Amino acid sequence: MSDSRFNDVRRFSSIDSTNRYLLDEARAGAPEGVVAVADHQTAGRGRLGRSWEAPPGANLLMSVLLRPDLPANERHLVTAAVALAACDAIESLPRELALAGLVKIKWPNDLVDRTGHKLAGVLAEADLTATAGGPPPVVVGIGINVNWPGPNDDLPPELASTATSLRLQAAGGGEVDREMVLAGVLTELELRVAALANPTGRQGLASDLAAQCTTIGASVRVDLPDGSFEGLATGLTPEGHLVVDVDGAPRTVVAGDVVHVRPRV
Ligand code: BTN
Repeated sequence: MSDSRFNDVRRFSSIDSTNRYLLDEARAGAPEGVVAVADHQTAGRGRLGRSWEAPPGANLLMSVLLRPDLPANERHLVTAAVALAACDAIESLPRELALAGLVKIKWPNDLVDRTGHKLAGVLAEADLTATAGGPPPVVVGIGINVNWPGPNDDLPPELASTATSLRLQAAGGGEVDREMVLAGVLTELELRVAALANPTGRQGLASDLAAQCTTIGASVRVDLPDGSFEGLATGLTPEGHLVVDVDGAPRTVVAGDVVHVRPRV
């Protein structure tokens, strides 16, 4: 990986949050490409102010520092690039694990299995005011459920019916090597992040996102800070935003929590 921008991989046995760490590094001028990986996070961050929990040593908890030079309305593609890289990496795991074709993306950027159980979450955090080190930083963190939950784990009640893991989905149910998943994500990230740099590459990211997106065709409820609405998700814009048909009128969702009320058929 010597020609990759993701060669500076910083490892932590325990840290509060790899996203927090890289945002602070970015504010101090760290360059694009720094990666932080933790065995355990004591204050892992999830989307919409939630926490992100995983027992020590079980899952892949990582963040990457990017400095994309993108118009504001295309920033969603940064998280898409990371989500797609993770899908590609899972798709390329050894054939005997039988994980090919498993992973889809629930908009905006949850990785889910065929039945909608969550395999991974992606959280992008930007500091548009940071001036050191080049274009403003976007830190994208991903937590991939690699070995937790496993066959005998008691999950917290809020996860019991919604989460799954590579281990649970893999043929044989044995441990999946986190290092192998990390190496795959970094390899695929190089390609996906390179695509962000030009309009054709960004078009490709948006169309790959649409192709993987299990939300398109589903009846959804969109929860926004000022209320909710329901409709049929019909597609994505070229920037990767979700288009929802509400009583015959298209509504574009840039950010929000999406619940699949009825999956697509
Ligand atoms: C979600 O809510 O679905 C997003 C979860 C993102 C979790 C990852 S784990 C590594 C990185 N560091 C954090 O504090 N959060 C992200």
